[in-house]
Amino acid sequence: MYFLWKNFPVAGNDLCRRQVLEWFASAISASLANVVPSILWRLSLVASALALAQTSSAAETEVARTKGGQFVGVAGCKSSSCHGGAGEKRSQCLTWLQKDFHARSYAILTNARSARIAETLGLPVAQESNRCTVCHSPFQPVAATRLEPRAHPDEGVSCESCHGAAESWLRGHTRKDWNYAMRVTAGMRDLKSFYVRANTCVACHQNLDSDIVKAGHPELTFELDGQSVAEPKHWRDDDPSSGLRAWLVGQAVALREISWALSKNEAPDAEATAKWKGLAWLLAKATAQQTDLPRIDQPTGATSPAVFSSAQEQADLLARRAAESRLSNDFAQQLLRELAATDSEFVVSNEISQDLLFRRAQRLVLALDRLSNAVSSEPPGTAKNPALTQLFDDVRSRADFQAPRFVEHVRNFRAAIKPSVQ
Ligand code: HEC
Ligand code: HEC
Ligand code: HEC
Repeated sequence: MYFLWKNFPVAGNDLCRRQVLEWFASAISASLANVVPSILWRLSLVASALALAQTSSAAETEVARTKGGQFVGVAGCKSSSCHGGAGEKRSQCLTWLQKDFHARSYAILTNARSARIAETLGLPVAQESNRCTVCHSPFQPVAATRLEPRAHPDEGVSCESCHGAAESWLRGHTRKDWNYAMRVTAGMRDLKSFYVRANTCVACHQNLDSDIVKAGHPELTFELDGQSVAEPKHWRDDDPSSGLRAWLVGQAVALREISWALSKNEAPDAEATAKWKGLAWLLAKATAQQTDLPRIDQPTGATSPAVFSSAQEQADLLARRAAESRLSNDFAQQLLRELAATDSEFVVSNEISQDLLFRRAQRLVLALDRLSNAVSSEPPGTAKNPALTQLFDDVRSRADFQAPRFVEHVRNFRAAIKPSVQ
C-alpha cells in the first residue's frame, strides 16, 4: 500500500500517502471478519506494520521490507491457464502485449525522439535515466531486491504497475474461497474504486517537470474517462453511468496533483499556473451544479502556496466523494448545457490572458466530449458531433489557438446538442 509514494515517486504526495494508509487500515478491519484463516497471519503482519508506519517514518521502510513488496513480472501472470490464454476471460496478457501502448513504453525510450529529448536535457541515455524510466519502465527504479528473477526490468508499464506488486497475493487470488475484498486486503490494488484507479493512472499521466516538456516531450493532460476508453480494455465496467464518475474523479485528482506540485514550488511558472486555473475554473462550474459534492473555489486573485495547498485538499475531498456518489443523467445534461454556454467567458481582458483561455478551453473540450458521451444514447464508436471535432482542432496547439474562433465553435456546439439534450 505504499505504492503511491514508493513505486511512483512522481506522485509522492503527502496528503495521498496519509489517506491511503487510513483507507488501507479500514479495508483490513472491514474484511477481517470474513477472512479465511490461512491468510490471517499475513494480514496481522501487514496490519501491525501499518500501525507502525502511521506512527513513525522509519517504520515505513519496515512496510516496504515485508515480503509482500516483490514484483513477479508479466512472466508470473501469463501462463495460458491464467491471464495468457486466448478466450475472453483469460486474454489480458495478449490484449496488453498486442494492443496496449503500455507494453511499448520502454521501447519508446530507445527511439530517436527520446534520444533528442535526453540530449537536450544532458542525460546520458533515456532508457537508463530515472527521469524517464520512472514512468516508462517502472521496474527499473525499483530496488533489485524487490524484483523476482523472472521479472524483466524492461517490460514497460505492465500488470503490476497498475495492479500492485503481486508476490503477496499471487497464489491466493485464484482461490475459490477468496472474494474480491480479500484479494485487496492481501495487497492487490483496488482498481474497481475509481479513486484508487485515478490515483494509479495520474501518477504517470499529469505532472511532468517543465524542462522535460521544453525538451520536446508531449504535454500530459490527465482525463480518466477518455483515457480509459482509449486504453484497449482488458476488463468490463458493468455500470453504465461509470463514465461520468470516472471523468469527474479523474479531473479532481488531476487538480489535486497540479495543486500539490505548485504548492511545493516557490516560483511556479506562468504556464503551470494557467493550467491550474483552467482546471479549477472547470471544476468550480461542475461543483456549483451538484450541491451534495464538495465545492471547488473559482480561482480569483493572487495565488500562493497556501492557495494551492487548500485547492489540493478540496480536490482530494471532491475526488473521494465523487468516487462514491451516483451522478445522475440529469446532472450530466444540466452541466453539459451550462458548459456549452460559457462562450462569454472566453474573452481576453486585463485579468485573463490568452494563455489562460487556452488552458480553460483544453479542459472544457475534454469535458464537453465526456459529458456528450454520458448523455448520448448512440452506441460507442459512433462518429463524433462535427462541432466537437472542430473544438478538438481548436485546442490542439497553443500557437494556433484563437479565442474568437473558439467562441464561435462553442456556439455551434451548443446549437448542435440542443435537440438531443432537452
Ligand atoms: C510523469 C511520467 C513520465 C515521465 C517522467 C516521462 N514520460 Fe514520456 N510519456 C509519458 C506519457 C504518459 C506519454 C504518453 C503521452 C501521450 O501520448 O499523450 C509519454 C510519451 C512519450 C513520448 C512520445 C511517445 C509517442 O508515442 O510518440 C516520448 C518520445 C517520451 N515519452 C519520452 C520520454 C523521455 C525521453 C523521458 C525522460 C526525459 C520521459 N518520456 C519521461 C509519461 C512520462
Ligand atoms: C494501465 C493499467 C493496467 C495495466 C498495465 C494492467 N491492468 Fe488489469 N486492470 C486495470 C484496470 C483499471 C482494471 C479494471 C478494474 C477491475 O476490474 O478490477 C483492470 C482489470 C483487470 C482484471 C479484471 C477483469 C474483469 O473484467 O474483471 C484482470 C484479470 C486484469 N486486469 C489482469 C491484468 C493483467 C494480467 C495485466 C498484465 C498483462 C494487466 N491487468 C495490466 C488496469 C491495468
Ligand atoms: C507507471 C506509469 C503509468 C501508469 C501507472 C499508467 N500509464 Fe498510461 N502510459 C504511460 C506511458 C509511459 C505511456 C506512453 C506509452 C506510449 O505512448 O506507448 C502511456 C500511455 C497511455 C495511453 C496512450 C496515450 C494517451 O495518452 O492517449 C493511454 C490511453 C493510457 N496510458 C491510459 C492509462 C490509464 C487509463 C491508466 C490507469 C488505469 C494508465 N495509463 C496508467 C505510463 C503509465
